[in-house]
Amino acid sequence: MDIRTQAALLAAIVTLALSVAALLRDNRSRVFTLFAVFAADLFLFSLSSFFLRWSEAFGVGWWERLAVASGALVPAAALAFFLEFLGVARRPARRARNTMLAGSLTGIVVAATPLVQVKVAKLLVAAYVVGGLAAVLSTLWGKMHASQTRVERARLQYLFVGALVAVLLSTLDMLPRLGLPYPPEGLGSITLTVFMFFLSQTLQRHRLLDLHEFLGKIVVVTALGLVLVAIYGGLVSWVGDRPELFYFNTIVASFVILSLFEPLRERVEEWVVATLFHERYELVRKLELLRHRTGNVIEPAGLAEVVLDGLVETRRVTHASLWLVADDRPGYRLLDFRGPPPVPFLEPATARALLGASASTQKAILLENIDRRVAELRALLPPGPAEHETRGGRGAPAAVAEELKRLSDARAVMSSMRAGICMPLLAGDRAVGFLACWDERVPEAFASDEIAALIEVADRCALVIENSKLYQHMKERDRLAALGEMSAGLAHEIRNPLAAIKGAVQFLDPSKLPGDDREFLEIVIEEVNRLNGVVTQFLDYSRPLKPALAPTDVNDVLERTFRLLQAEVPQSISVELALAEWLPRVNADAEQLKQVFLNLALNAFQAMPAGGRLVVSTRLTRDELAFWREGSRKADLVEVRFRDSGPGVPEEARDRIFVPFYTTKEKGTGLGLAICQRLVKAHQGTIQVRPAPAGEGAEFLVSLPGLREERPPDAPKPPVDEEERQRVREQRRKSAEARLRRRRKRRRKQQA
Ligand SMILES: Nc1ncnc2c1ncn2[C@@H]1O[C@H](COP(=O)(O)OP(=O)(O)OP(=O)(O)O)[C@@H](O)[C@H]1O
Ligand SMILES: [Mg+2]
Repeated sequence: MDIRTQAALLAAIVTLALSVAALLRDNRSRVFTLFAVFAADLFLFSLSSFFLRWSEAFGVGWWERLAVASGALVPAAALAFFLEFLGVARRPARRARNTMLAGSLTGIVVAATPLVQVKVAKLLVAAYVVGGLAAVLSTLWGKMHASQTRVERARLQYLFVGALVAVLLSTLDMLPRLGLPYPPEGLGSITLTVFMFFLSQTLQRHRLLDLHEFLGKIVVVTALGLVLVAIYGGLVSWVGDRPELFYFNTIVASFVILSLFEPLRERVEEWVVATLFHERYELVRKLELLRHRTGNVIEPAGLAEVVLDGLVETRRVTHASLWLVADDRPGYRLLDFRGPPPVPFLEPATARALLGASASTQKAILLENIDRRVAELRALLPPGPAEHETRGGRGAPAAVAEELKRLSDARAVMSSMRAGICMPLLAGDRAVGFLACWDERVPEAFASDEIAALIEVADRCALVIENSKLYQHMKERDRLAALGEMSAGLAHEIRNPLAAIKGAVQFLDPSKLPGDDREFLEIVIEEVNRLNGVVTQFLDYSRPLKPALAPTDVNDVLERTFRLLQAEVPQSISVELALAEWLPRVNADAEQLKQVFLNLALNAFQAMPAGGRLVVSTRLTRDELAFWREGSRKADLVEVRFRDSGPGVPEEARDRIFVPFYTTKEKGTGLGLAICQRLVKAHQGTIQVRPAPAGEGAEFLVSLPGLREERPPDAPKPPVDEEERQRVREQRRKSAEARLRRRRKRRRKQQA
């Protein structure tokens, strides 16, 4: 087999592989299908050429027919693919494709009939193929000249030159078959293979590659291939004609290759980039260093300085800026910049336009991508006399016009930000800021791996910003703790002189004082008592809790509390204790529990100045959360409810009543419920407020984990609480509905 025959085989194998790879893609778009068809047709053509040259034994006639038929289809397949790829408007595209298909069908007719033996007929088909490919080339040429940006034009130029060379050399390959001498036969197949590989790479990157990137790829693939050949050939060549050794060594070579491939590829790529593309290598390296440097930064201001200076130092950007989400109003505020100043604030609508322009899979928004998409969409619109008419004009399909509008908005934002590339700083699915840079000297300054390195820097920025928020929280917490300590000291200092004042005032005899003075003395005593109460409560609140935990009967504590309160219950209020007959004990400090119940009872009395009813009940329930979390082992909760018939707690106040010093009472401190919450939490319990189920009033609910105790055999079963059961059922229904809604939303998104 000579090198020409092998070149045809190589072209056949590579085009088949490319076709299959395009077909196997997830979410394959139309352009990939058309590419697969184009590659498959070239595969058939190369395969038949290979067999035609290799051996006559297979029956040249059939291979000849296949070569003519598949050759005749090439222009139609190529045109269909390029029209889609270049985004040529539907109608003219369809017309051109149909014309081309008619020509191809004629070629197939020649292949299927005895005409295939006639030299002139074959010559005509060949002429049609060359002419058709020239038409494809002219489409490319037209697109290149019509392209709006310089970058786009430069890239289409590479594509055009590649296609031209491939067509020319493949045409020359046919000369020997027409009886004309052509020594470098086979070169056409090789250029065709390289060109198809180039095309497939271009498709995969969603953008045209520049020549450097492509050459880099070729060098990497070749170098890797050579290394693999050395391993494989080295191990297999010395076995001679001993088949068992051959198989053994093949397996060994495969293992060696499999384990070496990944690290080897990385090394080779690194080496190629470092030697051939020094500038790019430097940028990626500097960005990596920059990423490491951000590790020591905590504050966003420091981050901006490090990152922006680092970017400018690479000498590859002329503008760089960092935006952060503003905390005083919706939108993003410019934190810092290098180069001429961009806009100081991004309104939410503006930021949305920007985020809308980036596909969900892309983490960076590139001006050149926006420009390319705009050019593609314009080509889809019917030709209009003026720009503004085609943009949103009546003739434009609504979806295209809408996308065009979105893109032109995004473009405007990018230029106001002075950004050629803009990366959202993502924390989860929320953008906490933007990092933007631009090189004004070259319209498109960054290659794919440079963009990837920039995205990594942006990711690091997002992380630092998130961490800085956490750090702020910690600082605030420390500040509050210090403040709390200081206030506790102050309260202590107040209490001593207060006691002295109280003592001294008590020595005064009100009966000896005339008229008004007596009243003033009473005010002094009353206010001193009040102040003393506030200070004592505050000290109680600020003192660390050290509950003396012991198994405690909640019912017992409640009974004792209300015995103590007997004297305090106003005449107009009736108190009812509805205690469950059997309750497990809880691990608690009885004194502290008493304090909680006292506070709740006093609040209830104070809420019903005109009289009413307070029902205090206990019962045993299951802690649903713990139940699900711990599997079938059931966890029990002891619940205490204080239900009064007062005005209730308004919904908007429900969150606030547990905050220290929140009070609506003239003489209240607002510490009662805060203390209750703290005590209950120290017992691993919860306290909540809700409106009383029937009519007016408030209900405070204290839940404490019950001890796992043997239930006495004669203990009655806890009564079924219909209301509670209803609540749990309702909760489950709601969460099932929410799950369903989420799933539907996800499916809709996937379909879109
Ligand atoms: N049973 C209740 N009904 C209606 N509102 C209540 C009830 N219990 C508490 N509140 C509201 O919650 C607020 C905070 O209660 P908290 O016990 O913390 O402080 P306070 O009662 O105002 O003052 P202190 O307890 O120090 O006398 C009260 O001012 C009141 O507005
Ligand atoms: Mg209170």
